[in-house]
Amino acid sequence: MALSERTVTDILGRDAIAALRKPIAEACGLPAVAYTSEAFFRLEQKEMFARTWMCLAFASDVPEPGDAIPLMAAGLPLILVRDRGNQIRVFHNVCRHRAALMVTEPCTKLKQFACPYHAWAYDLDGRLKSTPYFDGTKQGNSRTNLDLSQLGLIPVRAAVWHHWVFINLDGKAAPFAEHVRPLEDLIQGADLGATRIAHREDWEWRGNWKMQNDNWETYHHVWVHKNVFTKMSDDLDLATGEPIAEPIPLGTIVTLKRRGDQDFYPAAGDLPLIPFPEGRKRVRCTSVVFPNMTLTLQSDHLASVIADPVAADRTVSKMGFFFVGDAATDPKFAAQRAKTLSRWLGETGKMRDYGGIRSQDMKIWEQQQIARQSPVADKVVFSPVWEKNVHHFQRMLVETMLGDAAV
Ligand code: FES
Ligand SMILES: [Fe+2]
Repeated sequence: MALSERTVTDILGRDAIAALRKPIAEACGLPAVAYTSEAFFRLEQKEMFARTWMCLAFASDVPEPGDAIPLMAAGLPLILVRDRGNQIRVFHNVCRHRAALMVTEPCTKLKQFACPYHAWAYDLDGRLKSTPYFDGTKQGNSRTNLDLSQLGLIPVRAAVWHHWVFINLDGKAAPFAEHVRPLEDLIQGADLGATRIAHREDWEWRGNWKMQNDNWETYHHVWVHKNVFTKMSDDLDLATGEPIAEPIPLGTIVTLKRRGDQDFYPAAGDLPLIPFPEGRKRVRCTSVVFPNMTLTLQSDHLASVIADPVAADRTVSKMGFFFVGDAATDPKFAAQRAKTLSRWLGETGKMRDYGGIRSQDMKIWEQQQIARQSPVADKVVFSPVWEKNVHHFQRMLVETMLGDAAV
């Protein structure tokens, strides 16, 4: 067995892994150490985030050719750039001379990357162009055997899917198309490309990133989101005892898919609807794409969060809102957009006012993080009716870290 398995098993404990692997009705969820231990956090970065397709950013974070931003992912410094040919690329943010950080702040109108240490210059496609004075001459490489073609910035395997940039750091994951296929099957050809970015919101919270995914259930709705989901019949078919948003674990995603023809909450006026192929039934769903991206597909907008794990007990959430075509920016739709955003972020738009769905969730997650420091916070249990997604996500995490693809 790989050292990593022993290490993951050491931290979680064999009993806890066995308990997680049981059928949901008898299973126990991840023990507290998975949320509080920095050692486990570092293992997650190495054994899970680096092995899969993690979501890095929104493509609109680098809207124009020549835009670049520095980012951290799985503990590694990266550059996200839109090159002069309009192609999005991701590189390790490490100069090939003596490993200085190349990009330290967001840049626009770049023609090349210039290292701040000794001015080695790279094209935006990563090729090393010049190494001034490296050999004592202005030209820089006539008196040495430096082979510039071998010293380009190291690229990271990346895939752009509609508005999102994904990366696979170890380069060994199955093709991205396989990773995203469960989501594509679920959304039934919804034309996400018809939507445009309308708003971005970033915030930091004091909790472990996994709490976002553990939250992919509607059991909590009437208690946490009292202003949006006002009665249990909003979320539960009282006649059958089944949730109205069906929890569906599907390989790399967990989703909550509305039964029937209603949105999760009423549409905000006369916004244009996201197009579906002729004859296809409209789908409303909210999904986690393993490991760190969420996508909510309502009739008239998309809302998406990328979780950026900063530490075991710190996460930055990056949220984007997308509307169809000009409705993303046209002042005519400003009131409808504001109404939609206020459902998620609250009337004031301030996360710490806890008025919106996302801020209300965040409040609970921060409180959970405190509770998880307790020695009695290990053996948590799942509702087989509501929490199939939570069980699936936690198992997927552990099986990925153990290097066992079969969940
Ligand atoms: S470290 Fe980049 S040029 Fe020297
Ligand atoms: Fe919630």
